[in-house]
Amino acid sequence: MARRILVTSALPYVNGHIHIGHMVEYLQTDMFVRFLRMQGHEVAYICADDVHGTATMIAARNRGVPESAIIAEMGAAHEKDFADFGIRFDHYGSTDSPSNRESVYAIWSALRAGGHVATREVTQLFDPKAGTFLADRFVKGTCPKCGAPDQYGDSCDKCASTFSPTELKDAVSTLSGAKPELKSAQHYFVTLEHFRGFLEQWVTGGGHLHPDMAKWVKNTFLRDGEPLRDWDVSRPAPYFGFEIPDAPGHYFYVWLDAPVGYVASTRDWCAKTGQDWTSWWQGGKAEIHHVIGKDIAYFHTLFWPANLQAVGWNLPTKVHIHGFLTVNGEKMSKSKGTFVRARTYLDHLDPQWLRYYYAAKLNGTAEDLDMNLGEFEAKVNADLIGKVVNLASRTARFVPKLADAYPDDGGLFARAAADGPAIAEAFERLDTAAAMRLIMAAADRANEFVERAAPWALKKDPAKAEELARACTVSLNLFRQLCVYLAPVLPNFAAEAGRLLGAPITTWADAQRPVVGNAIAPYQNLMGRVDPAKVQAMVDASKVGEPAPAAAAAVAPVAAPAAVEPLAATIAFDDFAKVDLRVAQVLSAEEVPKAKKIVKLRVSLGALGERTIFAGIKAAFPDVAVLVGRRIVVVANLAPRQMSFGVSEGMVIAAGEAPNAFLLTPDQGAEPGQRLH
Ligand code: 2FM
Ligand code: ZN
Repeated sequence: MARRILVTSALPYVNGHIHIGHMVEYLQTDMFVRFLRMQGHEVAYICADDVHGTATMIAARNRGVPESAIIAEMGAAHEKDFADFGIRFDHYGSTDSPSNRESVYAIWSALRAGGHVATREVTQLFDPKAGTFLADRFVKGTCPKCGAPDQYGDSCDKCASTFSPTELKDAVSTLSGAKPELKSAQHYFVTLEHFRGFLEQWVTGGGHLHPDMAKWVKNTFLRDGEPLRDWDVSRPAPYFGFEIPDAPGHYFYVWLDAPVGYVASTRDWCAKTGQDWTSWWQGGKAEIHHVIGKDIAYFHTLFWPANLQAVGWNLPTKVHIHGFLTVNGEKMSKSKGTFVRARTYLDHLDPQWLRYYYAAKLNGTAEDLDMNLGEFEAKVNADLIGKVVNLASRTARFVPKLADAYPDDGGLFARAAADGPAIAEAFERLDTAAAMRLIMAAADRANEFVERAAPWALKKDPAKAEELARACTVSLNLFRQLCVYLAPVLPNFAAEAGRLLGAPITTWADAQRPVVGNAIAPYQNLMGRVDPAKVQAMVDASKVGEPAPAAAAAVAPVAAPAAVEPLAATIAFDDFAKVDLRVAQVLSAEEVPKAKKIVKLRVSLGALGERTIFAGIKAAFPDVAVLVGRRIVVVANLAPRQMSFGVSEGMVIAAGEAPNAFLLTPDQGAEPGQRLH
């Protein structure tokens, strides 16, 4: 029976680009959605950018633009990355929308009316220079437990202890370098304990979570005898978010309004398509499936169901939780080039390869998934090229059309058709690894048939034309049957297969009936092999702090001996020591209308504060925005210089002269304010 199913992926933060770690979830969800559609269900795939919070406010401030500019720019980049990976949302919105405000207000009034809101004073670190309270990740200092320097405000990556940012020693604000102060403000809390009975039931009964996750949530957050802590859902101004309607000067914390974005984005989609959004979220028969990573299970299995329960909207039918991506057995690393942006992947490799590789690894549990780059190459080439494409490439050119009746194939087609329900059941529980195993086993059987039939040998003997037609008809039908099962994973590939045999693949049932009599279209290569050199090029392009080899080769000729400046006169060490070189981070970069060659930089020297520096590098950086966020080297003790357009409080170190000026970037880990020796 056809179901109505609303599916979401977590809403990505607007503050960063999509990378291959994110893609695990979006590809997993897209495959699930495409599978459900092939089953004939009515499916809505809804997502949005998660845009509120301090990070957006600070980024906008540093760039001197309104938050809306960042939201528009990054939203467009996210949507393009997703589209180029073949992810098809029905609607992609933003949490800063009128529909989200309205939905958040509805939840808030329900929480208030139910007596689930408490207030109390909270003392937090405050940055007096930036004029804002500091979230944990905007504070750095020395670990109070082991003394390790340069740790974030909530935990130490050396001794793994956790603490509150007020316990950090020598704390500095990473926003301005200022020493944070303690300041109190009123906060609003949701009393989660009121929902305990409901949450225990929802988490442990009804099959909303994988049994392992249900156990984990119960044992971690819903321990007997330990009341649930109130949830702090407000932040005092200044904050980028929705102001709390009955508490002016206070804003909803980003995590209160983010999941509400699922509802709001559905509302926007319904408004666009003439539907009633309540048919998805209130009453009725729609299922709601959220796909998320295990890091945000807490929000989706406690806060979100509690809010939905309070307002009386539909609860999630299932929350599907996946693990994290590691690459070559380690956390993704910028210095190793394994922190790969979606766009960098697309610049070098075919998105269908990643879709298949992730499908072959994801098993519907929250286990971490390792992308071993060698295995990626071997698996895609062996399975997709060696087993699937092979069936078509070895037979499609030999005959102009399929036989008019499906020949005896020894039961191969029927056997793979009988696998359909088991493959479907694996897709339904997001265990695509099990589905891919069944599909590849069928591919192995099909390849054995082709080996035995040897159509390339039959082709040489005109007396065997009919036998050849039969062999090719079987091989191409077994190929097409695999493509039906692979269609949620490889939609473009399946569309090509449909064209080849003049029989588009649209439903799961297409795997149950062979195609006969159709003309075979001229064969074109259906998919390329993974080239390890291209994988390496992607890794090189992702390395931070080192030029890619190609770029290094390109700059080599410029350093011809004649171009080298003669060496300056020898100086004493003391002379060198007088120059105070510091690591600086560019906070903003602006053109100077009156001076075409100059860029006005605002840089942070960490605890030493901020500086304005005018640098003659405009010709090297026509788009000055690319400088924002970069760590560079500046002379920090040069006497301030009055220029016609302002005072320059330092000098930027660069090799060469504009337009061929190259800024120096320190290795990963160097922090603003550090001195160069
Ligand atoms: O963890 C994250 O990336 C969040 N932006 C996810 C939000 S999901 C939903 F609740 F909006
Ligand atoms: Zn420590």
